[in-house]
Amino acid sequence: MQLQRKDILGLQDMSAAEIRLILETASSYKEILTRPVKKVPILRGKSICTLFYENSTRTRTSFELAAKIMSADTTSISAAGSAVNKGESFKDTLLTLEAMGIDLFVIRHSASGSSHFASQIVKSHVVNAGDGLHEHPTQGLLDMLTIQENKLRLEGLRVVVIGDILHSRVARSNIWGLSHMGAQVRVCGPNTLLPAELDKLPVQKFTNLDEALEGADVVNILRIQLERMDRGFFPSVREYSRFFGINKQRLRRCASDVLVMHPGPMNRGIEITPDVADGEFAVITDQVTNGVAVRMALLYLLMGGGASVAAA
Ligand code: CP
Repeated sequence: MQLQRKDILGLQDMSAAEIRLILETASSYKEILTRPVKKVPILRGKSICTLFYENSTRTRTSFELAAKIMSADTTSISAAGSAVNKGESFKDTLLTLEAMGIDLFVIRHSASGSSHFASQIVKSHVVNAGDGLHEHPTQGLLDMLTIQENKLRLEGLRVVVIGDILHSRVARSNIWGLSHMGAQVRVCGPNTLLPAELDKLPVQKFTNLDEALEGADVVNILRIQLERMDRGFFPSVREYSRFFGINKQRLRRCASDVLVMHPGPMNRGIEITPDVADGEFAVITDQVTNGVAVRMALLYLLMGGGASVAAA
């Protein structure tokens, strides 16, 4: 089965069958990451551009590694150091790069909807690497792969997404992806960080963390995005940490085999204590590894044509 779509823009409109295909393909690609020579020819001749208007460590690097492992040619553009800083528009930047022969764009942008816009401008594939407050679909997919590897299922699991839901594209992709796969999604945070749109989404809403954690199979802890906060959403970081920070004591309310996840980068000591971040339940570095495999799977499924995974 191939993905019958040109672009990956979000998980809201992705079917359970498509998500299963991506996760199965990513699982099969993980073996390549353990080889002494991590190189397969499957995307030879393809050109990929990572176009990042916002900072990134994990997403950008893992897309670049995924592309290089699969023998694609990569180029990397940031706003700083490119003609964007001379005032070139997003549209002209896309058209210029497409004219050079880019087959697939990986785009991170502060504007919600920027990847949808790009997908209408270029004939090349577009993968959303995070658009404003909207979605971060590849993070949602790597989170689901990590949960599935550890719990052997997604359906029926109680997953709690904690913290700054308002500013979090990771939260939205988790909510859509996990609910399509039959998980029960709870969100928890201060009222000021729980957007009104949650009432229309398939989630249970909590402002009391202890209640939200009761029996949880997975806790996905979000970063407090201070850079996106132009007003006081909570009285102080110390108070936020006291009411919404995850520590060992709070984890006792969860299932005994709870998974602790964080998309990174972490504010250690604010939304998560260091002993939990480095503790026995944490799978945060597994998420990072799975990010490479998921991005390899997506590049293959969008551009690999008829070549089979086994041929790798
Ligand atoms: N999780 C995530 O998107 O991390 P980066 O901002 O480092 O890409």
